Amino acid sequence: LVSIKSLFRNLSEYEGKEVTIGGWLRSKRDSKTFGFLVVNDGTFFEPLQVVYSDALVNFADISKLNVGSALVVTGVVTPTPQAKQPFEIQATAIEVEGASTPDYPLQKKRHTLEYLRTMTHLRPRTNTFQAVFRVRSMIAYAIHKFFQERDFVYVHTPLITGSDCEGAGEMFQVTTMDLNNLPKNEDGSIDYRQDFFAKPTNLTVSGQLNGETYAMAFKNIYTFGPTFRAENSNTTRHAAEFWMIEPEMAFADLDDNMILAESMLKYVIRYVLENAPEEMAFFNQFVDKGLLDRLNHVVSSDFGHVTYTDAIKILEKHNDEFEYKVSWGCDLQTEHERYLTEKEFGRPVFVTDYPKEIKAFYMKLNPDGKTVAAMDCLVPGIGEIIGGSQREDDYDKLLCRMKELNLNPEDYEFYLDLRKYGSARHSGYGLGFERCVMYLTGMGNIRDVIPFPRTVKNCDL
Ligand code: 4AD
Ligand code: MG
Repeated sequence: LVSIKSLFRNLSEYEGKEVTIGGWLRSKRDSKTFGFLVVNDGTFFEPLQVVYSDALVNFADISKLNVGSALVVTGVVTPTPQAKQPFEIQATAIEVEGASTPDYPLQKKRHTLEYLRTMTHLRPRTNTFQAVFRVRSMIAYAIHKFFQERDFVYVHTPLITGSDCEGAGEMFQVTTMDLNNLPKNEDGSIDYRQDFFAKPTNLTVSGQLNGETYAMAFKNIYTFGPTFRAENSNTTRHAAEFWMIEPEMAFADLDDNMILAESMLKYVIRYVLENAPEEMAFFNQFVDKGLLDRLNHVVSSDFGHVTYTDAIKILEKHNDEFEYKVSWGCDLQTEHERYLTEKEFGRPVFVTDYPKEIKAFYMKLNPDGKTVAAMDCLVPGIGEIIGGSQREDDYDKLLCRMKELNLNPEDYEFYLDLRKYGSARHSGYGLGFERCVMYLTGMGNIRDVIPFPRTVKNCDL
């Protein structure tokens, strides 16, 4: 079988030749003696036009087909210079591999994204989701390519873990114990010795701590895998299961970290603009007008930089516009992040040096003793897309910070060891993959950029 993509990309090679393609019927128009089929095989944004006539032995069957049917079409590739489509297939044989019933829910009219969310198994057959998931796949490839070209080692960090990297306690517990009959210690607490791992475990919120151990051996590494957060945030940007890319570099400080993050985002944007022009034109026309202008501007200009302290000064002047008023020490909400990147900077911006109280235990303390060497990258339309930092590489300072936060140093022995055996300054960040896909496609809801979304009260399919 030939893919529709290769027909479009290598048309001159196929002109006048007979080819066979497999695909699903998108729409159909017919008259007494001939008809048109629009067939899509998922390889390319443009669907294939097929013309058929009563010369086919099964003409009557084809005329009765329902949208959604799986077909194997053989025919001659015929250029159509007058038409919108550059060519059509004049069918010599159409085999019905699997007919569809008339209640197929995806009809030719445009369906809302909300409606399509109720059928995550069928929505990948629509134009929008075909474009989103081809681009999602391409972004994943571009990210690997970016890191591999720079000799970063891809590390597979575990999904089941005993630690809480972010210290936010937003974890899904993993257990094989019977929840209705938990074994108890004498003091009434749960006896985890009887659990599978003989200790409390959870799904990972971040691969960073494991990633750091490999950075201390390979210098530059990255992870790319699923992470899980039991955050009770029912927003368009939060999922309970999402993918994260976490590079970690030894002998690198916060500036090196931001340089890497900026080059990575620009590389990925350029890659997708070059390799998915049809999909990107579609998003620009139907999903987010101005997307292409915005992305082209991003790749050709520098990201903004502002410290948290200066950002608060900017935001305080606009407190009357915000639902949550800001002051030094508070965490930035989406509305503040979006104000900074959309109104103040008009481009992606790094906010650096946050108060230590609102950031994780592992971040390097700045000389002021109040802030840490953290950076968040905020982008228009979304807010935070990347969170990262330089890590505390001093054994005593890290231990002290862990004690302040009531973390048990015994649980983090491996992590402290890294500061004992040849500690080196090191930095890294986490890119939320779905937020990156939203940013590049203009899609407004995280539920529409991950194939099977898991969000609060929703784990269908
Ligand atoms: O800022 P976060 O929590 O940082 C970390 O997890 C660090 N350990 C990363 C590191 O330094 N290696 O998360 C990183 C990114 C966020 O900027 C956001 O894009 C995404 O992960 N993210 C989510 N995406 C979707 N749904 C959620 N619930 C998310 N939580 C974080
Ligand atoms: Mg963050």
